Amino acid sequence: MKERMTRRTFLKVAGALTAAVAFPVSRVEVALGQTPGQKFTFAYISDSHITQIKGTQFVRNFDNGLKKAVLEVNFMDPKPDFVIFGGDLAQLGKGEEFEHGLEMMKDLALPIKWVIGEHDYYLDLGKYWQEKMAPLYYSFDHKGVHFVVLNSILTDDDWTNKRWSTPEERMLQMARLDNPDGSPFMVKEEQRAWLKKDLAKIKLETPIIVLSHSPLYKIFKPWNFWTDDAEQVQAILKPYKNVKILHGHVHQVLYNQIGNLTFNAFMATAWPWPYVTTYSQLPNKMPALTVPMNRADPFKERDGTGWGHFELPIGIVHHYELWENPARTVRKTPDMKQPEDTQYQSPEKRISPQKHY
Ligand SMILES: [Fe+2]
Ligand SMILES: [Fe+2]
Repeated sequence: MKERMTRRTFLKVAGALTAAVAFPVSRVEVALGQTPGQKFTFAYISDSHITQIKGTQFVRNFDNGLKKAVLEVNFMDPKPDFVIFGGDLAQLGKGEEFEHGLEMMKDLALPIKWVIGEHDYYLDLGKYWQEKMAPLYYSFDHKGVHFVVLNSILTDDDWTNKRWSTPEERMLQMARLDNPDGSPFMVKEEQRAWLKKDLAKIKLETPIIVLSHSPLYKIFKPWNFWTDDAEQVQAILKPYKNVKILHGHVHQVLYNQIGNLTFNAFMATAWPWPYVTTYSQLPNKMPALTVPMNRADPFKERDGTGWGHFELPIGIVHHYELWENPARTVRKTPDMKQPEDTQYQSPEKRISPQKHY
């Protein structure tokens, strides 16, 4: 307890922290610029992948990641208004995994906004999620910001409903990262129509934060770091002046700018994924503006995890506080055209990509 209080005080005073004390949580700070009193914070926890071994046995490392995130959020100062869970609470969508994950999340003394991930969906197609967590897509307003939650991990009905002999088989196929029998994610027509309708009542200047599990742009198809109808979703968001899209799924620090849309990915509490540019699989359509970040080390248990905070609408300042990597700040370039990791721009501070994959 004493150690946590010391750390919290340090954070408050210094506004920065060492990698050694960072937790796998993202803190998102929303400052509505010229509007005093409208600044608020929300926390972001994602990709816990709670995994049942058998009975009451679960993978301890993943449990620990989520538990630490929950503890950290409870000690945040200022206290966040709510917590967003970015998806993949469970590994194989089992009731036992959800229950165990919810048990840990219950320790949060805060409201939770849920975003569904593919690991939560493809066993029962969102049944448990809708009963116990939240609708699969919805929107809400908070202190002048319009939040939209999308279910971005849908796919073709044929693939979902007809191809597999059991729901477990379908879940296993979709849970694999590099699977030619998988299927690309989509938001799909019904939700795109809903999104259009939902945003029709929003002024073009209103800050909008879109929360999805998969990135709403196309990074790397073989790993499903990809949403197949991303361009159509982007087109719906395009008229709005201040749109940030926050997502999980990629388990890494990642940011991008496409037109007026700023994208930020968050770290997982379970494990990091390496950067896909080091792989030779095709097709790989990395958007031109994506800046590859320092690689996470998969051999360190907590590498590539951390937390950060995020400001808007004056550009974007997102502090990624990584656990076993150097902390970094991503901010808009002076011309406001794209996010830039100022630390990463210095070549001597980069960690060379690993070669053994
Ligand atoms: Fe995940
Ligand atoms: Fe995922």
